[in-house]
Amino acid sequence: MTNQYLIAVLPGEGIGIEVVQATLTILHQVAVKHDFQLQVDYGEIGQTAFDQYGSYFPEITAQICSKADGILFGAVSTGGLLELRKKFDFFVNLRPVKTFPSLINNSSLKKNYLSGVDILFVRELVSGIYFGASGRGEDEQGHYGYHTMQYHDWQIKRIAQVALDGALKRRGLLTVAHKENALPHLPWTKLVLEVAQAYPDVTVEPMLVDNLAMQLVINPQHFDVILAGNLFGDILSDLGGALVGSIGLLGSASLNEVGFGLYEPIHGTAPDIAGKNQANPLGTLASAMMMLEQWGEGDAVKSLQQAWDNILAQGYRTHDLYFQNQETLVTTQELVELFLNNLR
Ligand code: IPM
Ligand code: MN
Repeated sequence: MTNQYLIAVLPGEGIGIEVVQATLTILHQVAVKHDFQLQVDYGEIGQTAFDQYGSYFPEITAQICSKADGILFGAVSTGGLLELRKKFDFFVNLRPVKTFPSLINNSSLKKNYLSGVDILFVRELVSGIYFGASGRGEDEQGHYGYHTMQYHDWQIKRIAQVALDGALKRRGLLTVAHKENALPHLPWTKLVLEVAQAYPDVTVEPMLVDNLAMQLVINPQHFDVILAGNLFGDILSDLGGALVGSIGLLGSASLNEVGFGLYEPIHGTAPDIAGKNQANPLGTLASAMMMLEQWGEGDAVKSLQQAWDNILAQGYRTHDLYFQNQETLVTTQELVELFLNNLR
């Protein structure tokens, strides 16, 4: 019997729409090649949802998601995404950052610092300052605003366990981002070390997040798994985009306790290039590959990886990656065609 999967597709806005469409076209081809079936169900999120339903993340969209085997997401400019993450308790956000030999010149960093960089960011996604008490008020000094960075100890411990599992399967080094010199009531180091007692083969390396940002630029090859809270993980993972040469290349998986997931590129809606057939769909494709991996379709992932490597090695570049005349500038559509040819 062939495996069947239902994908909830939430393109969102801006280039989200193009990169998701491009990725689905490629996915349908790889499904034929590897003999599984894909069904898709579209949902609205973000501004288009608000225009239609008066909510950035309407109930109907939540229902579409809850029936699916995975959620493929594009990008939104305001609203919807945090509600979606919270709704399904997608507390694990995995953001792999790996440099590609054929794109090594795209980064602003020197080549010899970049070869072999292979980092897994594990970002906590449903708590911290994004979800703490917040508001605006007024006192004798005038108007003010506040957002609270709050974590329950169990929330830090459950994401620590995921990061430790990740490190165990990789090189065994877990760097923990924290800011305990200024935020002592969020003792990431102590809590992670408690969980790490059960992981004697993993080295835990606590690092102040400001220093960590610097070390990522100075010595990216040092890192294996980096664990961070919601806000620090957001900021540090963009730095990962700089390491590989374009944020357009990076994908992510957001998972809950039972392994149900939301798959989204790390980039945003890019309104300046939206609708111009210029967007790089590889970040979304990378996310979809994480979805296939999660489903156990590892052979399909290998085929896609092969196609990806071939196409980049042949010099094809979308707008964000193009900077030398030896390369061939391609549109989003042309890149999709290259994938289809490679996957036949
Ligand atoms: C990301 C994005 C989001 C985040 C925004 C759009 C809320 O920057 O997924 O990295 O900060 O989580
Ligand atoms: Mn971000």
